Amino acid sequence: MELDLSTLKPAECYKVLANLITPRPIAWITTVSQEGAVNAAPFSFFNCFGSSPPIVAFAPGNKAPGIPKDTARNIRDNGDFVVNIADETLAHKMVATSASLPHGESELAIIGLTAAKSVSIKAPRIAEAPVSFECREWATLEIGSNRMVVGTVHHAHIRDGILDPQTLHLKTETFLPVGRMAAPNSYCRTSNQYEIKRPL
Ligand SMILES: Cc1cc2nc3c(=O)[nH]c(=O)nc-3n(C[C@H](O)[C@H](O)[C@H](O)COP(=O)(O)O)c2cc1C
Repeated sequence: MELDLSTLKPAECYKVLANLITPRPIAWITTVSQEGAVNAAPFSFFNCFGSSPPIVAFAPGNKAPGIPKDTARNIRDNGDFVVNIADETLAHKMVATSASLPHGESELAIIGLTAAKSVSIKAPRIAEAPVSFECREWATLEIGSNRMVVGTVHHAHIRDGILDPQTLHLKTETFLPVGRMAAPNSYCRTSNQYEIKRPL
């Protein structure tokens, strides 16, 4: 099968990309509105892109033509966000925060999650998440009707026991994030990992 993406509709391009570029990590983003309401939503068009400085990026589509999702709107207004990572125990709650609520209503409170104060930014993190990264917006690119938020990472909250405090090596079995597979409802576990040594 050969596909020329320039001839496909956006919804078809989405299917081709989102079904085949998998597994994707999921950024469970928390932001705060100008009025102080905490917002949470998952984004799987997400990854880390460098370490000097440490940067991440994710892509919130528009709600409607020209109208940003609450996450993008809050970042535009306040300039910061937290990337929380959900493990298997939080996966259902993470997906539940993708419900679209009116601007200003908090997904966290409804779902029974706790917002915890951040150290370096305004947006709070999700206290229950095993890992959270405090980020400042570096730039938001608008490419057609896509938005890509690039952020620098300033502070990490990591549940004790996940990283060795001396070496920062990961204790694999202590951190089992979920990944996104074919859209809209497929996920993968990370509890069946294996190693391949790189050539020297
Ligand atoms: C696992 C998962 C991943 C998602 N990834 C994205 C994404 O990368 N980009 C996007 O625009 N929406 C994505 N969504 C949908 C948003 O989470 C959803 O539109 C949400 O309501 C946005 O919230 P907000 O308006 O509070 O920002 C995803 C949903 C789920 C369940």
